[in-house]
Amino acid sequence: MTSVEVNPSILEKSYRREDWQRGYNSLAQEFDYWIDEIDGEIPADLQGTLFRNGPGLLDVNGEPIHHPFDGDGMICAIAFQNGRAHFRNRFVKTEGYLAEQAAGKILYRGVFGTDKPGGWLANLLDVRLKNIANTNILYWGGKLRALWEAAEPHALDPRTLDTLGLDTLDGVLKPGDAFAAHPRIDPDGGKNGDACLVNFSIKPGLSSTITLYEFAPDGKLLQKYAHSTPGFAFIHDFAITPHYCIFFQNPVTFNPVNFLAGTRSAAECIQFHPEKPTKIVVIPRKGAGNREAAQPIAVRTFETLSGFVFHHANAFESGDEVVIDSVCYQELPAVEPDGDFRQTDFDAIAPGHLWRFRVNLQTGTVDRQLLEGHCCEFPVVHPAKVGRPYRYAYLGAAHAPAGNSPLQAVIKIDTQSGDSCEGFALQNRVFWSAAPWGYVGEPIFVPRSADPLSAEDDGWVLVMAFDSSRDRSDLVILDAHDLSQVARLHLKHHVPYGLHGSFTSECFA
Ligand code: CO
Repeated sequence: MTSVEVNPSILEKSYRREDWQRGYNSLAQEFDYWIDEIDGEIPADLQGTLFRNGPGLLDVNGEPIHHPFDGDGMICAIAFQNGRAHFRNRFVKTEGYLAEQAAGKILYRGVFGTDKPGGWLANLLDVRLKNIANTNILYWGGKLRALWEAAEPHALDPRTLDTLGLDTLDGVLKPGDAFAAHPRIDPDGGKNGDACLVNFSIKPGLSSTITLYEFAPDGKLLQKYAHSTPGFAFIHDFAITPHYCIFFQNPVTFNPVNFLAGTRSAAECIQFHPEKPTKIVVIPRKGAGNREAAQPIAVRTFETLSGFVFHHANAFESGDEVVIDSVCYQELPAVEPDGDFRQTDFDAIAPGHLWRFRVNLQTGTVDRQLLEGHCCEFPVVHPAKVGRPYRYAYLGAAHAPAGNSPLQAVIKIDTQSGDSCEGFALQNRVFWSAAPWGYVGEPIFVPRSADPLSAEDDGWVLVMAFDSSRDRSDLVILDAHDLSQVARLHLKHHVPYGLHGSFTSECFA
């Protein structure tokens, strides 16, 4: 692979903050239409539905919310069928959304500082919760669910995106139970080599309980098991291998005094401790289907240098080692009570980088190696490679090779060639950039076929890009092999920067 030359006409900075900010304007309207403004051609063999979730409202009746993570969840569905694409967006009609829209004002206190009562620690602290359903969206077991990590999912009609209500996963969850927004699909971990869905919930406290759930393709529960880990755990994502679930317990503490007093939001009471190590908690999976349980079956905890991880790209087993590739920050940026996220000074924040952690289960040592020095986030891999040795990761990335800035590019990293960071920088990445006008979210890799013999990068990368030159968003289809642009689908409006999404081969046009 070769790296792409940076366009010299691009300004000293590849972005302007005032352009980036407009991607955080609310989108109150709900649309339904066939996309008719297209550069290039939609591949005829791209069939299925891309679902995306993220905050759709960044204000309630003009009253701004404090942080985008507090914004009401809005689902976008882009269905691909015979070379055409249909767009639809709908808000998740949560109890909180309906109440606030009826009242025309903010009624809840957000986890990330929007003023009024609630929070993701509501179970622990017994205060009022607004389940904003804004983090991820997944079609599994014939059901479409919007996920938010501190409470139960909302079920939606996959065709109309109408909200069907809170969902207990056929009684697996009790009312108010948490269910993380980062499920992993093990390609063959279920019965008879079927896929299975693995997800977790966290009950944080002085000691935190991690509960794991594994589901069959028909949605039925296969396994449920729990483990307690000492200390407060703020865990957003996890990684799986055939025999383990891996969690990074970031070195943070939670002081609820100001939260209970109502002077701070939950997130503002989280303190990062750079002097303390990050703990890597490796939980053996219960053997499901034909697969034997890991041996030994004891949960083990390892330590590595301090850092903060939201997202993992992938993990796999290699001899005595469990290898985990994760986007790691030097620290968790504080959520400030008086801060305005639209005024983010990107240069003042340390960027996230992709690191490889090698946990040796025999010696207990953890080695880490920088895989990618670009500021990057939202890593994804081929769905058949989840938990397995793999070659390619795709991430949203900054345009510039160093420093911190908004995500404007997609980067593809070859993790199997090159043995140093510099080697990676020169040889092992391809890059597509929407700078200076474009701002991107999470890329999604879609394989061209289910044939296990096809190349790992035979498929497409789908990414939403906010085009600040028109204040509208595009869905961009890239060839996953070289990240060349296959098609650019111009929407009739913008879509606020989203969080996570997923692709299903079922077409819900
Ligand atoms: Co996430």
